[in-house]
Amino acid sequence: MSTRVCAVSELRDDEPLRVELAEIDITVVRTGDEIFAIEDVCSHADFPLSDGDVEGCTIECALHGSRFDLRTGKPSGPPATVPVPVYPVSVVDGDVYIDVEND
Ligand code: FES
Repeated sequence: MSTRVCAVSELRDDEPLRVELAEIDITVVRTGDEIFAIEDVCSHADFPLSDGDVEGCTIECALHGSRFDLRTGKPSGPPATVPVPVYPVSVVDGDVYIDVEND
């Protein structure tokens, strides 16, 4: 089931927004026309990905520089080797919905 987390207008391009849903910390990222939701915990050492930088479809952890693909959650740059869960995003009437039951 999808749950509303914010309005699209609250998202600034390439600026991660941290939300909590079903006791899961999630980073919502808008990049261009696309919006992604990835768990807000780097798989390398439990650091919040929302503190990181976004470039295209990649978010870079601010602590040691691991990079993750926002589409898949897979690491695309070391030192992380384990994927981070990503969640389906939908937009309805200008609001962002995330489905945490289908990562
Ligand atoms: S905690 Fe993210 S790269 Fe180390």
